[in-house]
Amino acid sequence: MSDFIPLSVPNIKGNAWKYVKRCLDTGWVSSAGAYVETFEGKLRAFTGAGHAVAVVNGTSGLQLALRLSGVEAGDEVLVPALTFIAPVNAVRYLGAEPVFLDCDAFMNLDPAGLGEFLKTACRGTARGLVNKKTGRRVKAVLPVHIFGNPCDLAAIMKLARDYGLKVIEDATESLGSYYTAGKYKGKHTGTIGDFGVYSFNGNKIITTGSGGMVVTADKKMAAKARYLATQAKDDAVRYVHNEVGYNFRMTNIQAALGAAQLEQLPAFIKRKKDNYAFYRKALAGVKGLELLGVPEGTSPNYWFYSLLIDKAAFGLDREGLMAALGKAGIQTRPVWHLNNLQEPYRRNQAYKVNRAPWFVERVLNLPCSTGLTKEQAARVVAAVKAERN
Ligand SMILES: Cc1ncc(COP(=O)(O)O)c(C=O)c1O
Repeated sequence: MSDFIPLSVPNIKGNAWKYVKRCLDTGWVSSAGAYVETFEGKLRAFTGAGHAVAVVNGTSGLQLALRLSGVEAGDEVLVPALTFIAPVNAVRYLGAEPVFLDCDAFMNLDPAGLGEFLKTACRGTARGLVNKKTGRRVKAVLPVHIFGNPCDLAAIMKLARDYGLKVIEDATESLGSYYTAGKYKGKHTGTIGDFGVYSFNGNKIITTGSGGMVVTADKKMAAKARYLATQAKDDAVRYVHNEVGYNFRMTNIQAALGAAQLEQLPAFIKRKKDNYAFYRKALAGVKGLELLGVPEGTSPNYWFYSLLIDKAAFGLDREGLMAALGKAGIQTRPVWHLNNLQEPYRRNQAYKVNRAPWFVERVLNLPCSTGLTKEQAARVVAAVKAERN
């Protein structure tokens, strides 16, 4: 059998060894050290974010952002039914409850459904917007830029402002994605809401092993994020703490790797885009298959390539194709089980989640590593085509 082709693996190159070695050689291996600031500065420069705070992972970054948005126990946060479970768990860590909304044609949070929910299922009260069904205060909305495709943030931000909601952008999958038209032309995902959060997990477009970054335009909020992430230390010498903080700071070793990885990001995005174009062209015309497109007015980072499979026309369903590719040494993955159906969230409200199940049944994500070669991509295409009707 030819070599195994993984779904999405790290691509460590450039200055990674040099920067990490410097940490090891100097003993600056923990959460103090120059690379944390360097990495934060490089990320600010790349995305245009006002302030950036490096943290241990994207999930903890989301938890911090939600807390700083004023989300408290008993509040509700509007989240997508179709996303990785991390942002949903982050809501629950604060004792708050997720309400699940449907997706649009790009698997992103559907602004039409959000608007309808806010208009018909909520009412304004002295303590803020309240969900008529549960009586809970609705505090924030958390759109996720799924697989790197930017959400329709112009519509989501307008609704959030109209109804007094905070916006936390889950940009964990979309580092490098930006808008090319409309109100946010030139702006990167993650830099538009009250907070944005990136992830540098091993499967992301750049990695620090594990890591995340909270960004915000609000200087005070950034300082508070840093404070809370560092055990809310009010006096670092006498150990005085006036709030319950977290140990969420990124280490210098992770940041050193991140700084080196960020230098590679433009080349990584180019490779992702080229491979996407290759897959799209090579699979065009195969009956029953379609590679998910790109929202108009956006330039995504092409993090994942989602193949939509119509079983009747292709002759094989998603499970069948995944198994066949697995046998050929090609790793693929379906999209997530819906969050409103997950055991911890089955009893939470799901508002008209009608489109998401369609994607759950059909999506198969193809190998998309930034190190994926043309030859490997061609092998994937040949293996897919070998299964058609
Ligand atoms: C949509 C989404 N949100 C949040 C996360 C959490 O990031 P991390 O793994 O860095 O905690 C991830 C990925 O892991 C993700 O894909």
